[in-house]
Amino acid sequence: MRIILLGPPGAGKGTQAKSISNKFFIPHISTGDIFRKNITEKTPLGIEAKKHIDKGHLVPDKLTIDIIKDRLNNEDCKNGFLLDGYPRTVNQGEALKTLLDEQGSSLDIALLIKVPREFILSRMTGRRVCLTCGASYHVTFNPPKAAGKCNVCGCDLVQRADDTEDTVNERIDIYEAQTQPLIKYYDDKNLLSAVDGTQAIDSVFESIYSILESIKK
Ligand code: AP5
Ligand code: MG
Ligand code: ZN
Repeated sequence: MRIILLGPPGAGKGTQAKSISNKFFIPHISTGDIFRKNITEKTPLGIEAKKHIDKGHLVPDKLTIDIIKDRLNNEDCKNGFLLDGYPRTVNQGEALKTLLDEQGSSLDIALLIKVPREFILSRMTGRRVCLTCGASYHVTFNPPKAAGKCNVCGCDLVQRADDTEDTVNERIDIYEAQTQPLIKYYDDKNLLSAVDGTQAIDSVFESIYSILESIKK
C-alpha cells in the first residue's frame, strides 16, 4: 500500500504511523525525522534545515523533494510506503505524483487525521521523543514504561526544540496556509479519507485500520 498521512502538527501522525507500519509491513518515512537525524549529525542538510525548523517554517521544497525522491527509490519502498509529513505543499504533492508516474505506480490513499487547534498545544508541550528511533510519547496521554526512556530502544527521551508555544502556533498557521490546500487536492482525486484524531490513540488506530483493510489489495 502507498499511503500519505495528512494532519496538523500534533495530530498524531507519527504515533499512528508506527502502528500502521508494523501492522502493514511498510516503511514509515517521516521527513521531520530525517531532518532531525541530520540536525543531530550536523550534516550540511541538517544545518540548512535547522534554520527553518527552529522558526516553525517549512524547509524549502527543493531540498525536501530531493530527499523523498532519493528515499522512495530505495528497494524497501517497492511494495509500498507510509509518508508522514510529506507532502506539505501542493508543489510537493505534484512532485510525488510525477515520481510515482515515472515508477508506474500510484497512491492508494491520503489519510487525514483531523484535530482542532485547541487540542494541539497540550499535546505538543507534553510530547517527549526518541531521536534514535523516532518514537513519540506524551507525559500524560502516552507515558513511556520507564520515565524518560524509549520503550522501543531504551534511549533517552527529549523535548523537541520546535515544541515551544510560539513555534507551535507558527506551525499551525503555516499548516493552514500551505498544507491544508492538499486536502482538496486529494479529495478531488478521490483519494481522501478522514478520521477523528481527538479520540484516544487506540481508537484512532482502529478507525485507520478499518479504512486500510477496506482498500487493501
Ligand atoms: P514534523 O516532525 O513532521 O512535525 P509536524 O507535522 O509539525 O508534526 P508533529 O511531528 O509535530 O506531530 P504528529 O502529527 O507527528 O504528532 P505525534 O504523533 O508526535 O516536522 C517538523 C518540521 O520539519 C516542520 O515544522 C518543518 O519545518 C519540517 N518539515 C517536515 N516535513 C517537511 C516537508 N515535507 N516540507 C517542508 N518542511 C518539512 O503526537 C503529538 C503528541 O500528542 C505526542 O506527545 C503524542 O503522544 C500525543 N498524541 C498523539 N495522538 C494522541 C491522541 N489520540 N490523544 C492524545 N494524545 C495523543
Ligand atoms: Mg511527527
Ligand atoms: Zn527509541
